[in-house]
Amino acid sequence: MKTVFSGIQPSGELHLGNYLGAVRNWVTLQEQYRCIFCIVDYHAITQTYDAKEMAKRVSEMVVDLLALGIDTDRHILFLQSMVPEHTELAWVFNNVIGMGVLERMTQFKDKSEHQPENINVGLFTYPVLQAADILLYKAEAVPVGQDQLQHIELARDVARAFNHRFGKVFPECEALMTNLPKLLGIDGKAKMSKSLGNQIPLTVFGNDKALRKLLARCVTDEKRVQREDPGNPDDCPTIGTMHKAISSPEDLAWVYQGCTTAGIGCVDCKGKLADNLNAHFAGYVERRAALLADPGKVEEALAKGAVKARVLAQRTLGEVHKKLGLWRPKAVKPAATEPAANEHGEVAP
Ligand code: TYM
Repeated sequence: MKTVFSGIQPSGELHLGNYLGAVRNWVTLQEQYRCIFCIVDYHAITQTYDAKEMAKRVSEMVVDLLALGIDTDRHILFLQSMVPEHTELAWVFNNVIGMGVLERMTQFKDKSEHQPENINVGLFTYPVLQAADILLYKAEAVPVGQDQLQHIELARDVARAFNHRFGKVFPECEALMTNLPKLLGIDGKAKMSKSLGNQIPLTVFGNDKALRKLLARCVTDEKRVQREDPGNPDDCPTIGTMHKAISSPEDLAWVYQGCTTAGIGCVDCKGKLADNLNAHFAGYVERRAALLADPGKVEEALAKGAVKARVLAQRTLGEVHKKLGLWRPKAVKPAATEPAANEHGEVAP
């Protein structure tokens, strides 16, 4: 069975772009692949953030992913910083990939512009850690949105460079995309993103009034200045695109017919989309409420996921150490007197 790996930053609320561009695929791929999904908190610290918020953001992300249907009995969901092999392998990869390649990464350029006061080394080597995430599990397929394609290409370059220099360990992965790999924000301009404040968070579902208010702000086909001007859903950067991703063929036919003949207005079209989104996310809303009432489930899922992920990660890292020719003593005996550490690696005085 082939392995799928993908990751998401704990940026607080999952938004419709994350869902329609990636997570929707994660859920369906669980039927065909062995899936490993990761909340990439080490990636998140490359951007300016509030440390006091981190735990809440991680647990909100887990709740969302479980509520959307990630099945932790059959697959693995874990927190990146609980599996230290990720950063170890990233260090190894720092030695096989050139600076020039990283300098060409468009996300690095974008993020540097966004936070000129904090252009740190982690931000620069971000894609190397991402390559380590994927290759540690020898994943063949990586479901992501369009904005990650350059990073996936880099993971392939890293695999090729390592295999060429030290002998084959890693497969070359390919990106898997949904039919909506890039959802624009409600402003209709840039990619939907929390940092741009143009997102539709999944937490809005269950609050019909707030959802309709957000959809009312969505930019539509600019040809439709007046109600009687015909438009085209293909030129509607937000509402038309979401209908295509969510609505039934019958509703989609109604949207095309109505929009192109000015038979319906944008308000009607947005109303229908709200109904369809509410129906699509009804199960999520219910499961989310149940999970919020049972915080032990989140801890349990992450603890279980890290144990399973580490077994696989250590196996690959062992192979890598051998290929690198790193020295190891023949028999390593555990130190009998070693004091026990807690989950943060702290030893009681
Ligand atoms: P992140 O956290 O920004 O986004 C998670 C996933 O959501 C997709 N996405 C979108 N898709 C369509 N339209 C949008 N507006 C939109 N916004 C976000 C992203 O493409 C992504 O698939 N670097 C990654 C996290 C990562 C990762 C990995 C991914 C770390 N290691 C290994 C895959 C494999 C990121 O920041 O995603």
